[in-house]
Amino acid sequence: MVAESANNNNGQLGGYKTIVYVICSVAALGGLLFGLDQGFIANSLVTLTSHYGLSVSDQENYSAILATGGILGALLSGLFARGLGRKKSLLVAGFIFTAASLYSALLPSLPVLSACRFALGFGVGMASFVVPLYLSETAPARIRGSMGTLFQLMITIGIFVISLTNVYIAKTFVDATTSLPLMFLTITVFAALMFFGGFILPESPRWLMLKGRKDEAVKVLEKTLNSRQEIDTEIGEIEQTLRSPQGAGIGIIFRGYFFKVLLVGVLLQMFQQLVGINVMIYYAPTIFGYAGMDGLLAMMTVPTVNMLFTFPAIFLVEKWGRKKLLYVGAVAMLITMVAAGLVFQSIGANADAAAVSSGHKTVLLLAVIVYIFGFAVSWGPVVWLVCSEIFPLEGREVGMTITTMVNWTFAGLVMANALTFMQTFGNASIFYLFSVFCVVGILFVYRFVPETRGITLEEMEANLKAGAKLRDLGNRP
Ligand code: BGC
Repeated sequence: MVAESANNNNGQLGGYKTIVYVICSVAALGGLLFGLDQGFIANSLVTLTSHYGLSVSDQENYSAILATGGILGALLSGLFARGLGRKKSLLVAGFIFTAASLYSALLPSLPVLSACRFALGFGVGMASFVVPLYLSETAPARIRGSMGTLFQLMITIGIFVISLTNVYIAKTFVDATTSLPLMFLTITVFAALMFFGGFILPESPRWLMLKGRKDEAVKVLEKTLNSRQEIDTEIGEIEQTLRSPQGAGIGIIFRGYFFKVLLVGVLLQMFQQLVGINVMIYYAPTIFGYAGMDGLLAMMTVPTVNMLFTFPAIFLVEKWGRKKLLYVGAVAMLITMVAAGLVFQSIGANADAAAVSSGHKTVLLLAVIVYIFGFAVSWGPVVWLVCSEIFPLEGREVGMTITTMVNWTFAGLVMANALTFMQTFGNASIFYLFSVFCVVGILFVYRFVPETRGITLEEMEANLKAGAKLRDLGNRP
């Protein structure tokens, strides 16, 4: 029986045992660290550049190497999660986060600092696969859905937190040899929490069952669930899924029906990056600087709007559906990217940033706000959600690994080339390019992406195997 009391003496709060909150918090830290590393650059780039004497291409390379680590981390995380187990994989990710951020705080040479950022990326790639997997297998069924969105929300909170602390540190400690270590140590604090917190996590009962360790699985469920009946039901469900076809291996990509949905996931992730989000997340203060804007507005607008508008996305995905949100977001981003392009075109190539008119600044600021709103409320959370829904069970691990790697590949490509692209082709050019990707993205969603709201994963799988068209996969059979 579920405990009704809000707080009693058995370590139960609000109907769940305390350990459930520990599970959710430690796992949420994985999302937070993703965001801390992703958001680190924006407000540390000036300090990094002054201390290490970075050229524009050094700046791009240091930013982008996180993504290279992310690709490798995502690729290997499936193997880690299967072989080592979910808990130990989380500990490995927590250890990498702690060690790499701590070592960065010692301000080593640039190649070593870059190696540390590569390692952080590896941890992020691992965490972005293992955390949602662990939560979906360990959190009680009733809160699993909200746990999925919590992960996404924590990413944006992480980006916000590190942007804020980096601004504060840079303003308070002007000397880079003091401020840079403090910036890295902020990451270390949360990383260490995740690492040490990880030791008290129970192993995933589903993984234990997969390894034939039923007794241990039951012991974990006794810790997380409240009644014998709940435990028996859960064990029964796990046994049932273990009887259905398991992880099919990479060969599944050659099956026609799987290849089709893989293409949808791959292209969604590609467009999520090609609309330019990480140029804003990483380089907004730099870009605002080109238009003569600095201070808090330039440094905090993007992370704040990004975090705030992820909240409505959580209920809008169910209310409006995925496709409608993707259209709304893409149209908002399309219009605002054209507006930003026009602003930079009208400012002109060799204009003095200090002389940019307040009209231009206002339009640019509004464009960026609406653009980030458009992304945060739609393409940010929805793409990850759809990628977790479209794959048939036996190929879910392969599908999610490949699509996550595609996300990081295009994120890296954009980060590694954006500033140089602007230098070479003019500041306006990149915004026009992103707007073209918005248009192609809209056409792609219209033609190929299924609406996955309100249909069970099993119904969608049946449609897929019966040869339904991609955009009709979400229609009730
Ligand atoms: C994207 C990241 C991005 C973040 C911003 C995520 O959905 O995959 O690349 O930095 O959203 O909130």
